Amino acid sequence: MKIPQHLIEKYNQPVPRYTSYPPATSFSADFTPEQAARAFTASNTEKPGNISLYFHIPFCTRLCHYCGCNTYFTGNRDLYGRYVEALGREIVMISSQLANERQVTQVHFGGGTPNALPVEMIAQIMAMVKDNFSLSEKAETAIECHPALLDERYLTSLHKAGFNRISLGIQDFDPEVLKTVNRDAPVIPVDELTRIIRSLGNIGLNFDFMYGLPGQTEASFARTLEKAVSISPDRLVTFSYAHVPWIKKAQKILEKKGLPDPSVKLDMFLTGYRIMKEAGYLPIGLDHYARPDDELSVALQNRTLHRNFQGYCTRETTGQVYAAGITGISQLESAYIQNTRNMEFYLDQVSKRVFPVEKGYALSGNEKVIRHVITEIMCNNYLSWELASRELGLPEDEIKSLVSCNEHILEEFAADGLLRFTPEEVELTETGRFFIRNIAAAFDPGFRTTAGAFSKAI
Ligand SMILES: C[S@@+](CC[C@H](N)C(=O)[O-])C[C@H]1O[C@@H](n2cnc3c(N)ncnc32)[C@H](O)[C@@H]1O
Ligand code: SF4
Repeated sequence: MKIPQHLIEKYNQPVPRYTSYPPATSFSADFTPEQAARAFTASNTEKPGNISLYFHIPFCTRLCHYCGCNTYFTGNRDLYGRYVEALGREIVMISSQLANERQVTQVHFGGGTPNALPVEMIAQIMAMVKDNFSLSEKAETAIECHPALLDERYLTSLHKAGFNRISLGIQDFDPEVLKTVNRDAPVIPVDELTRIIRSLGNIGLNFDFMYGLPGQTEASFARTLEKAVSISPDRLVTFSYAHVPWIKKAQKILEKKGLPDPSVKLDMFLTGYRIMKEAGYLPIGLDHYARPDDELSVALQNRTLHRNFQGYCTRETTGQVYAAGITGISQLESAYIQNTRNMEFYLDQVSKRVFPVEKGYALSGNEKVIRHVITEIMCNNYLSWELASRELGLPEDEIKSLVSCNEHILEEFAADGLLRFTPEEVELTETGRFFIRNIAAAFDPGFRTTAGAFSKAI
């Protein structure tokens, strides 16, 4: 695939990532713990009925200079135990608002670095989940891990605790690149970690990579991905490095080390795309790939792929998301609720059995319609107005009038070769998938280019 330069120049604007609609930048600090409790209870009668649990483990052992995640550094290991205890209390608080018959179909531990915690603590959290919720037999139970902190004992204990998907944050196989960005290289090579994971039985394997870091070239990134496909994980992500030094100060250090310019970054993406396709992987969204037999690939082919804050998922595993831990975001049918980022405030609120809310957002009926349209585009590269009408229980014309996109905008995208459309449907082309965030923004009537608020599309 080749992306014409003029399209890159035209569309490389700051746009939301659409991991949620409305984006997290619109959440309000006026949202109260009482509103959160009411939203949790109200979610019992809304769809999807399944429960997806998210645990944010903010701890890391060393700051990678590119990091855009919500982390918390402490030399005080006692805090780990206090934090896990607080998570336990939050689990009880959340479960007491939810109807007993609702099943948990997804559990996700993200961070920070969940495996910075002793594995016994991770097992303790999982035990609390099992004590307080009804866990579906088919639940996907996933954990993000830093490879440098893994060994056989840790992995075996994760398996025993019930995890069936492990995501390894590899970023790059080149130790020089890892050194440049201040990241620990794995002690046990990733091939060996993979062998151990596979020997444990039925565990899904995800790899995370990043492109656009200092020290990376198109050729070096190609070597990294060639190595990745030789190990053949089920799913793989190539994240475009999001440079937001006004939010993440440590990223400034990377500016001095020489960030690849946008055209090199684009070549890295395209080379990665080619390598992954040649290896038989299916592209999911902009930067995710899955083996053709993976359930995400099957869902994409059936146009039933879904997405929540945990990432891409199928209609079977997706649920309303209930998050615990600092900065965790609950994603309900009618509200988003984000926990505080202040550790002491978090521990204090939870000890008083108060939801540790920092901000939130109650969605209007119209916003749910817009969210549905944007999610369909972002997940399935496709939108059928008729299917949307059936799903939302609204006439097609009403849905069309609620999203800001008009025929002129669609015609312009079509003329640029980014999509095809008829009065019945919109379908992205292969090139259009690359500008998926720009296309989604065209269906977002609230979108205004707020300079600096979002990272650029490429
Ligand atoms: C919470 S981390 C994964 C777990 C663990 N902390 C690690 O680093 O291995 C989630 C992923 O976000 C990605 N990431 C972090 N900072 C990023 C940034 N600035 N831009 C794009 N992706 C980023 C990395 O690929 C990382 O694996
Ligand atoms: S990339 Fe992962 S390990 Fe590195 S600082 Fe961020 S969350 Fe921690």
